Amino acid sequence: MVKVLCVLYSGGKDAQEEKRLLGTIENSLGLKDELAKGNHTFVVTDDKEGPNSKMAKEIVDADVVITTPFHPGYLSKEIIASAKNLKLCITAGVGSDHVDLNAANERKITVAEVSGSNVVSVAEHVVMTILILVRNYNIGHEQISQNKNNGWLVAAIARDAYDLEGKVVGTIGAGRIGYRVLQRMVPFNCKELLYFDYQDLPADAAKQVNARRVADLNDFLSQCDVVTVNCPLHEGTRNLINKDNIKHMKKGAWLINTARGAICNAEAVKEAVESGHILGYGGDVWNHQPAPADHPWRTMYNPHGGGNAMVPHYSGTTLDAQKRYADGTREILNNWLNNKPQNPANLIVENGEYATKAYGQRKTTVA
Ligand code: NAI
Repeated sequence: MVKVLCVLYSGGKDAQEEKRLLGTIENSLGLKDELAKGNHTFVVTDDKEGPNSKMAKEIVDADVVITTPFHPGYLSKEIIASAKNLKLCITAGVGSDHVDLNAANERKITVAEVSGSNVVSVAEHVVMTILILVRNYNIGHEQISQNKNNGWLVAAIARDAYDLEGKVVGTIGAGRIGYRVLQRMVPFNCKELLYFDYQDLPADAAKQVNARRVADLNDFLSQCDVVTVNCPLHEGTRNLINKDNIKHMKKGAWLINTARGAICNAEAVKEAVESGHILGYGGDVWNHQPAPADHPWRTMYNPHGGGNAMVPHYSGTTLDAQKRYADGTREILNNWLNNKPQNPANLIVENGEYATKAYGQRKTTVA
């Protein structure tokens, strides 16, 4: 018998009414009955901040922690040190940066995620956000819904509205999501598709989307009209887009980040948008979640009042995605409970080493 601690977001009335909201505390990934049958202890909470939170109290004797990137239980070095029995952390979704992976390695804790479970969901959101920004959608929608500019002033929208056709679009990270974004850009007849990644795309895959790798980040940024960020957050990508290199972006370019908030420096992005150097920023990820009410990205606009396409973190938690990551979480947990091998694609760290090549270039990567 083991103790499983599950940190999820609260779904309230929505989760009562919509049982497919599996990533909520109310519907708890559909794991409750199954774990009860096995006489395991299953604790579910959304209370995760600070030393007096339920998470901090319950983790001390938990064997397994499950959490989602949408409402992450942050497993810092200190929290991990307090979790004496912890052996497995499962990310119900994709992106395990909420765990201090180096601390997990020191303790030989396995960290696994449901790779691929929501990559289409995110790629679709990226395409939507690119279009919202490039076509200056929000200014138009606000005229209609909030009667701004007397409810109808086409020039105020059109002055910052462009076609995606003919633009250069580049992705930072060309893994599962980045590549799917490139695939979805093909029908738009962009001028060129670029990627920045230390791993080359397989030649066939690159050929299919006609994408060119640019090895230097400043060079890459200076060539793109649209930059989309699709790499994990790790030591090598924290603050990757910052005050120094954002100036290499073309004036009037757009930046989309659905990967992790901390990859882009919050103040540098705000300054670049507000000065008009970049025409807009959009995405769904924030450097701490839930984002505080005074987070600069909630209220930043370009000099014409547009250019903000931020939403709460939800791109990878569509109802379709929730089914997939709930199923995948159950599979990882059951494999562990029954001593069965895990799907290697789901492993982030195991036996004290990185099991993936996606979290930076490391000497100790196994895969
Ligand atoms: P993946 O592992 O398939 O691909 C990641 C790619 O990023 C790899 O090709 C890797 O080499 C590259 N990369 C790593 N460090 C880099 C660096 N310093 N510079 C350039 N490229 C680098 O991962 P996948 O499935 O594409 O997901 C990527 C990230 O997207 C996740 O780690 C997560 O943070 C985020 N994500 C966000 C979601 C959302 O709801 N907003 C949902 C799912 C994932």
